[in-house]
Amino acid sequence: MSCCHYYEFTEQGDRVFSVDIAAIKFGPGSLQEVGSDAVELGLKRVGIFTDPVLADFPYLDTVQTALRQANVDFETYTEVHIEPTDQSFQHASQFATEGKFDGFISLGGGSVIDTCKAANLYSTHPAEFETYVNAPLGDGKPVPGRLKPHIACPTTSGTGSECTGIAVFDYLKLKVKTGIASRALRPTKAVIDPTSTYTLPANVVAASGFDVLSHALESYTAIPYTQRSKPASPALRPMSQGANPYSDVGCEKALDLTGRYLVRATQNSDDHEARDNMMFAATLAGIAFGNSGVHIPHGMAYSVAGLVKDYQPQGYPDDEPICPHGISVIVNAPSAFRFTAEACPDRHRRGAELLGSDHLDVPDSDTGEVLAQRLIEMMHTTAMPNGVGGVGYDNTDISDLVEGAYAQQRLLQQSPREVSKESLAHMYSGAMNYW
Ligand SMILES: NC(=O)c1ccc[n+]([C@@H]2O[C@H](COP(=O)([O-])OP(=O)(O)OC[C@H]3O[C@@H](n4cnc5c(N)ncnc54)[C@H](O)[C@@H]3O)[C@@H](O)[C@H]2O)c1
Ligand SMILES: [Fe+2]
Repeated sequence: MSCCHYYEFTEQGDRVFSVDIAAIKFGPGSLQEVGSDAVELGLKRVGIFTDPVLADFPYLDTVQTALRQANVDFETYTEVHIEPTDQSFQHASQFATEGKFDGFISLGGGSVIDTCKAANLYSTHPAEFETYVNAPLGDGKPVPGRLKPHIACPTTSGTGSECTGIAVFDYLKLKVKTGIASRALRPTKAVIDPTSTYTLPANVVAASGFDVLSHALESYTAIPYTQRSKPASPALRPMSQGANPYSDVGCEKALDLTGRYLVRATQNSDDHEARDNMMFAATLAGIAFGNSGVHIPHGMAYSVAGLVKDYQPQGYPDDEPICPHGISVIVNAPSAFRFTAEACPDRHRRGAELLGSDHLDVPDSDTGEVLAQRLIEMMHTTAMPNGVGGVGYDNTDISDLVEGAYAQQRLLQQSPREVSKESLAHMYSGAMNYW
């Protein structure tokens, strides 16, 4: 493309990118309209998914009232597991199968939306659990057809799962996180009401906000789509296509918004301007990375979360150790961006600038450090753990962490720099403590 030298065409590289997005409704009060959205999609009997904590907040009542007013029959599943597992996905799938629904509504954070995607998948196209799980951990078989309509209503400003075709879970027997990825999983419609984030605990705002930030930074610095080989046929073009001119627009805006509002949204639940803007940033970053993909910080996060020892952060269920997704990602990010900067220093400099760094007048060789320092400053201010060491790991854990991360080839291949086991070990070592 002549307008953008970053995307240079080559003989072998792809020249086409596609933008697949869910229909989106955004704004305060949109949740009250969900009955009419269900009717528009022709739904008569809906399975609602939420988690046990959210079930006690007024949002579920809002959804149920809207459905009653629209004469849509429903049943509600409130047992979604926070940071879902293969077992919890299967439990939810059983509810979806037995309920004989013609569509679904998810009301919650990424844990709820991802669970609903899996329940929709296994109840619509029943199969052994491994069938659709990403290879090499699962069989990685394609989803054979469309799923039932799914209206996703996020209540965290984080994952962007309402816009992606990904469902993430903890594979208990392998002690690692992985996922199911298919365009078929993308919700039919996202109904995004930012007022539902006003009750989020500070630590959840911070963790899910850093997930947004890292989605945007990773997509922005991912391998350009023109450097990925042309697919053998259009149907084989991957969902994670690499950075492209469309995802860049969403990433830049999401970085600008997280730079301005993440700290404010965390520090004051009455700062509605900040919380609303973080919700919009989450949506923009979700659309972007849903088409371009993320890379090293997320790849490293899957073993940080999967091998968790005794970490129990505030604001999350306290019945078992848990490393929330956004935390498991951001503890790696400064170290990972120090590593990737040499592949595309201008994008790392621009990322730091959008996040509000004042130290931009540096040689290319220092852009990774400048970006890392801005991230560390934001992490420190929002009381995030001090690196991988802050969630309970030490240098003796590095080889196990590397094994889990190295298995996430789908993500690591999106990195702008080739990733080996040695480089992962170096990055985990650099991520152990930041201050
Ligand atoms: N599918 C994707 O594209 C994608 C992308 C990133 C992350 N994820 C996955 O999403 C999950 C994390 O999701 P998350 O960060 O949105 O958090 P979450 O869904 O795990 O929820 C975190 C906590 O916040 C509570 N909560 C949610 N909304 C609330 C509200 N409005 N008020 C008060 N409490 C509320 C929940 O009950 C829970 O205790 C992880 O499993 C992660 O791997 C998926
Ligand atoms: Fe994420």
